[in-house]
Amino acid sequence: MNFTQTLRGALIAAGLVTALMSGSIATAADAYPTRPISLIVPFAAGGPTDVLARVLAASMTKNLGQTVVVENRLGAGGTVAAGVVAKAAPDGYTFLIHHNGMATAPTLYRKLPFDVLTDFSYVTLLADVPMTLLGSKKFPPNTMVEFIKYAKENGDKINLANAGLGAVSQLCGTLLQQALGTGFTSIPYSGTGPAMTALLGGQLDVLCDQTTQTLPQIKADKVKLYGVTTAERLASLPDAPTLRESGLKDFEIVVWHGIYGPKGIPPAILARFNEAVKAALKDPAVTQKIEELGAVIVPESKQNPAALQAWLTAEIAKWGPLLKAANQYAD
Ligand code: MLT
Repeated sequence: MNFTQTLRGALIAAGLVTALMSGSIATAADAYPTRPISLIVPFAAGGPTDVLARVLAASMTKNLGQTVVVENRLGAGGTVAAGVVAKAAPDGYTFLIHHNGMATAPTLYRKLPFDVLTDFSYVTLLADVPMTLLGSKKFPPNTMVEFIKYAKENGDKINLANAGLGAVSQLCGTLLQQALGTGFTSIPYSGTGPAMTALLGGQLDVLCDQTTQTLPQIKADKVKLYGVTTAERLASLPDAPTLRESGLKDFEIVVWHGIYGPKGIPPAILARFNEAVKAALKDPAVTQKIEELGAVIVPESKQNPAALQAWLTAEIAKWGPLLKAANQYAD
């Protein structure tokens, strides 16, 4: 065999190996998923993130033909769960659902063991949710005006829930205290699910939380509603003032959610998972439930990895200076 024949043989063999390899990759992506998928929630069961995850997971399970299992990995305002997902195998079987906390963590945590902008696969933005400021039925103020007066007079006698540094309940509490120039007593919870139980029982005075959990309690008249955190009043709660119109200058928090996986998920698998999320966001069982809970699904043009990455980048820039001014850090 001369040199040319040897080279040709080697090239044919290499081509065959490549074809076989790409064939097996295509087959793996085509077969995906072959086992249950974990969707990790960074906060306690029963809270707003968990509610959204479970509504989506039920619909995605039908679409994917495999169970999407919701797992709650609690701690450090969502950064424990994000760390678990950043280190998971990038095989399409572990994902994270998270909110604004993904954008505030880089400012709040001095030693974050992952980079939110480079250590993940980005799936899609999901839905935006307003927050409501609530009091327990046992807490004296009845209106936002009364709440502001009471807060200024009683300050740290008031118990306010927070679900950890990076939680939106904590973010809302921080902005509220800055705007009112008063300090509340912050009570830590593993999520606002347990905080709501404490509010209903009167062990907690005040909770700022998403409508996905609070709307049913407000409608059932089990809590006092002081105001909403959006720039405009909500159609679902037209009598509730915005915190802005109540004198809290520029106050606005809208909670946005996204889905992430570990960096390096094969594109075909990521695309299949994204397709299942998009199908869930069109499923009438999901849209009706989400609408009932006051959340707004993002437009289809934002249901993709690039939109999530761009939004996350912009939100890091937005919250960074505000949080630095509040001087809250964890090591
Ligand atoms: C939760 O799901 O418990 C909340 O989103 C936690 C929070 O960020 O306040």
